[in-house]
Amino acid sequence: MSNTEQTLSIIKPDAVERNLQDEIKNEFKINGFEIVKEKKIHISKQEAEKFYKVHETKPFYNNLCAYLSSGPIVVMTLQKENAVLDNRKLMGATNPDQAEEGTLRKKYGISIDKNSVHGSDSNENAKIEIDFFFKD
Ligand code: CMP
Repeated sequence: MSNTEQTLSIIKPDAVERNLQDEIKNEFKINGFEIVKEKKIHISKQEAEKFYKVHETKPFYNNLCAYLSSGPIVVMTLQKENAVLDNRKLMGATNPDQAEEGTLRKKYGISIDKNSVHGSDSNENAKIEIDFFFKD
């Protein structure tokens, strides 16, 4: 039975700054993801605070929001079967030091903050996150 899903992916400022967006987009494509929506934007700190609201009680929240709004990002809606879980597998662990070989964060991540990509962690959050950037 087909289980086509959508998930939100962000190529973070550290990767855009190093001009890695085409290489990372190609990784999604060769791993079976269709990029159905895409835009390059530079969000404000207030928008980043809204996007990462689930983390507002965490000690790293302020830095995280400052970082996501520090430069251009590429936001995408990705689609494939089991997109949410498969994207999380492709990204690897949050901390690039702990990410498996071959994963995006292992290949491109610099640190736990500058970990190059974000991906929705559940179908429920995928819908919320896709709406956040693409509702029009
Ligand atoms: P992301 O998948 O975008 O979701 C929240 C982000 O917070 C995470 O990736 C990390 O880049 C960042 N972060 C910073 N410090 C931590 C931490 N200690 N634990 C988890 N995430 C962290």
